[in-house]
Amino acid sequence: MGGPALRQHHAHHAIHEGALSGAIDKTEELEILIQEGKSAEARLAADQLLGYWVTRVLSHADAEEEGFYEEMAGENPDLRLAVVKLTRDHDILRMIVADIVNELPKDGPAPDVMRLFYSLITINAIHSREEERLLFGEHSE
Ligand SMILES: [Fe+2]
Ligand SMILES: [Fe+2]
Repeated sequence: MGGPALRQHHAHHAIHEGALSGAIDKTEELEILIQEGKSAEARLAADQLLGYWVTRVLSHADAEEEGFYEEMAGENPDLRLAVVKLTRDHDILRMIVADIVNELPKDGPAPDVMRLFYSLITINAIHSREEERLLFGEHSE
């Protein structure tokens, strides 16, 4: 998911919005399955949600770190620092996903795992907002 879309603010914003709204929908669906006690379906949905974070969000992060950040920062020291911080956000998302990978087989989609899934949504939303503000000069709200 590299290419010119990352460099265009509008297209990049659309990638962020699409990935986030899909994650929110799938997380809410998973929570309902758990509440209804549908454990087999919940387990499947949790695996799919985990796969969604890897393919839609972590792969986007990987693509950004494979040249896009470097290109946007150039020789500007403020932007170079911004890119270090944004990369750390990616690392935190990766660590939470790794924790979910470890916990899911043990407990299935239990409340502890839901807490991790919701933390991904919050951190990713803040990260995307900051990324757009810092790299595209967007001062939203
Ligand atoms: Fe990012
Ligand atoms: Fe991004």
